[in-house]
Amino acid sequence: MDHNTEAVSKVTVPWILERKLRAEKITCLTAYDYPTARLVDEAGIDLILVGDSLAQVVLGYDSTVPVTVEEILHHLRAVRRATRRALLVADLPYGAYHVSDEKALEVAIRYVKEGGAEAVKLEGGHKRAALIRRLVDAEIPVMAHIGLTPQSVHAMGGYRVQGRTLESATELLADAEALQDAGAFAIILEGMPRELAAIVTQRLRIPTIGIGAGPDCDGQILIFHDLVGLCFLPRTKFVRPYADTAANLRQALAHFREDIVGGRFPDDSESYHWPASLRDQFERSCVAK
Ligand code: KIV
Repeated sequence: MDHNTEAVSKVTVPWILERKLRAEKITCLTAYDYPTARLVDEAGIDLILVGDSLAQVVLGYDSTVPVTVEEILHHLRAVRRATRRALLVADLPYGAYHVSDEKALEVAIRYVKEGGAEAVKLEGGHKRAALIRRLVDAEIPVMAHIGLTPQSVHAMGGYRVQGRTLESATELLADAEALQDAGAFAIILEGMPRELAAIVTQRLRIPTIGIGAGPDCDGQILIFHDLVGLCFLPRTKFVRPYADTAANLRQALAHFREDIVGGRFPDDSESYHWPASLRDQFERSCVAK
């Protein structure tokens, strides 16, 4: 796909819903800046999420909890400038929807108006249903997110796979149904047994997007930096790195440094030149002074 010239058929919320009806998988990735979003979009990935994982993978925080609305907006605008085809979704960070539905609505409207988001994502089960209804009423499509929800790290007592007991699995299925009924157009299932994700996927009309939830979901999402091997956190079981970008970058950086120290960078072909006539003229004028 030529980003500059070719007409691209834009991914929309109805298109995502249609994929489920056709049993066609939905491809999703996070992105946080112009160059990576451009590569993701040009690769034909269907949905780009400016996730609050920005906090850890790009900004160096030790969880997703501290990242702010302003920080997400800043990165969202860069991703917007790079994205032509993919549906662009922005994450509501911790704190943005925990004070009041009004505050959450204001943030979501800023994402759409100032950041160019086409949908928002938020974490949590049935207790988010009322807020999802408000957002949908305001014409903002919502992606829900249940299972291992990283913003609840303190409440969960760590990052733990969810739905491993009959009780918690039943609760997660009920959550998924409540979020669908509230109007969510898709739902991320994170960190749960494959068997549970398969049942939730079968039961819902809206697509499920899995991360650490096995292969039976309607689509899959990964964090861009995990996919390309550019992450400094311990790798989780469900991440398949398709490249070793950190190793490639380390090699390039070491090579660059060695070339400077060894006087090999830059060489003559990487230098600008005078025309010979100017060189003669300049030397004569220096001698004359
Ligand atoms: O913030 C994020 O990147 C996410 C994905 C892991 C789904 O929520």
